[in-house]
Amino acid sequence: MLQLENVHVSYGPIKAVRGVSLEVKGGEIVALLGPNGAGKTSLVSSVVGLAPTSAGKIRLDGADITGEPTERIVTRGITLTPEGRRVFADLTVGENLQLGAACRKDRDGVAEDLETYLELFPILRKRYAARARMLSGGEQQMLAIARSLMSRPKMLMLDEPSLGLAPRVVDQIFELLHGLRSKGLTMLLVEQNANEALELADSAYVIASGSLVFGGKAADLKASGEVMEMYLGLEGH
Ligand SMILES: Nc1ncnc2c1ncn2[C@@H]1O[C@H](COP(=O)(O)OP(=O)(O)OP(=O)(O)O)[C@@H](O)[C@H]1O
Ligand SMILES: [Mg+2]
Repeated sequence: MLQLENVHVSYGPIKAVRGVSLEVKGGEIVALLGPNGAGKTSLVSSVVGLAPTSAGKIRLDGADITGEPTERIVTRGITLTPEGRRVFADLTVGENLQLGAACRKDRDGVAEDLETYLELFPILRKRYAARARMLSGGEQQMLAIARSLMSRPKMLMLDEPSLGLAPRVVDQIFELLHGLRSKGLTMLLVEQNANEALELADSAYVIASGSLVFGGKAADLKASGEVMEMYLGLEGH
């Protein structure tokens, strides 16, 4: 579904991503792991046109989307839930959800999806009329994910959805991602929580200093003590 070919992302003289190639197949969950500053956010941002791709190609279902405007890419069916659970704090939960569907014209489909996600995230139904700023961190993260889903993406990219949340809330987020996986949604998941992410993912990539240091099956990464210890600070299994 998504193919990155030798992608570079630079901010002026700063080279954040240096020639990364990766693939996400339809129905697959891919984990993108790596230490702080590795270039994970830059890479997923470049896919949706929010960071500059200075070289390389990004293809979605074979179509070259490199450098296209974000809105066009979202319309093509790929959405990013950005780092830091960004919601519109002064808008209500309902308004945030409606904004997620702003690129869509199928009003019946939007109403249908709204019902689906209020069912999946009961807390959002309960707090539908509340301003987003009144929600807890975990609830805001759920709102950010649900808002992304309202664009009815073929593929969802999530940038560290569990960051800064209490362990119990992290479990809830992963439970939800397992639920989305069973619905067949294709996902690219950026995570610091490597163990949890590898439980969920089919394949995994590890980047460090902007370059790939591992690409393969999630199970193989778990078994690779060296990569796990060197780049992810974890004991191998
Ligand atoms: N807008 C920007 N302008 C300049 N440099 C940037 C910008 N965004 C990121 N960088 C730099 O690019 C490099 C990669 O950053 P990036 O945010 O992509 O890493 P990351 O893997 O997502 O890190 P983290 O795990 O901390 O979120 C870092 O050195 C960072 O300082
Ligand atoms: Mg990041």
